[in-house]
Amino acid sequence: MLLLLGACSPGRTTASSAAVAESTLTPEATIRPPAVSTGLPPTTTSLAEITTSPTSAPSTPAPPTPIPTSTIAATATITPSPTPDRDVLCSQRMPDNGLLAIVTLTYGLSRDYVPAGLVDLSAYLPKEVTLGYPTQLRRLAIGPLVNMINDMQAGGLHPMIISGYRSYSAQAIARQKWAEKEPDRVNILSAPPGFSEHQLGTVIDFGSPELAEIVGVEDIEFHTYFYKTSEGIWLLENAHKYGFTLSYPFEATEVTGFFYEPWHYRYVGVEMATFLHEQGTSLTEYQLSTEPPPCIPDKS
Ligand code: DAL
Ligand code: ZN
Repeated sequence: MLLLLGACSPGRTTASSAAVAESTLTPEATIRPPAVSTGLPPTTTSLAEITTSPTSAPSTPAPPTPIPTSTIAATATITPSPTPDRDVLCSQRMPDNGLLAIVTLTYGLSRDYVPAGLVDLSAYLPKEVTLGYPTQLRRLAIGPLVNMINDMQAGGLHPMIISGYRSYSAQAIARQKWAEKEPDRVNILSAPPGFSEHQLGTVIDFGSPELAEIVGVEDIEFHTYFYKTSEGIWLLENAHKYGFTLSYPFEATEVTGFFYEPWHYRYVGVEMATFLHEQGTSLTEYQLSTEPPPCIPDKS
C-alpha cells in the first residue's frame, strides 16, 4: 500500500499559501501508459499512486483578461551549450531569463531566486480552470497557456490547474510534508527547495475531472492515471504546439531523478518544446546530454 501526497504539490503551495492536502490510501499498482517514445533508458520502477484531496478554495477571482499571445509569447533559442563552466552560480546562469534554466537534483536555483513577472492566473482563466486558487505563473507563459486552455475547452475538454509557481520556502514546506509521509520515496516524489522546476514560475500541474472516476477515489488530484484522462492524452500530443513540455516522462526516472509525473508541464517556448517532442526526449535529458554547465545554488 502506498500513502502518497501529490508529488508536485501537497496542496496549493504558493508563497502565500502552503496548504497541505489530505492523503488517501490506495492499492499499489504497476501502471504503464501507452507507448510513447521518450528516448530514455527503461527502468523497472513501478509507478506510484499519488492521491490528494483538495483544500478549500478562495472566493471567485477577477474576470479573465487574456493577453494577446503575440506580445508575450517567448521563443526558446536552441543553441549548443558552450564549454561547461563547472563553477557557475545560479544567479549568473539564467539563459533566456530563466526560460531554459536547468533545474535538476544536481543543478538548482538560489534560495532567493524569484522569477520575473509573476502574475495570478485567476486574472486570465476562469474559476473552472484555476479552481479559485491563487496560482501564479510568469507572464511570458500566460498567453500560450490561455490559448492552450481555450483550445482544449473548444475541443470539449475540461483542464484544471492544480499548481504553478512555488517559492523556495513553499517548496521547502512541500518537501517536508513528503518527508513525513513518504520518507523512503521523498527523493523521487518531491524536489528539495531550490531544486524544483516550480520555482521557475513556468510550470503547471494539470488536473482532470475524469481522474476520480478512473482511479476510483473521490476528489483525487494527482495520480499517474492522469495519462489516461482525455486531458492527459491531449496534453501529451499537443502541449508542445503551445510551448509546453512534459518534464518527467514515464521511464525517465533514472535521468530526471523524479517519478513519472504526467501532469507536470514546463513552458520552454514552441521551438524547444517541438524539438523535444520530435526527438522523443525531455528537456533534462537533452540538456544533460549536451553537457550544460552545472549551477551551484548561492549560499545566501
Ligand atoms: N514533484 C516535482 C519533482 C517537484 O517537487 O518539483
Ligand atoms: Zn509539478
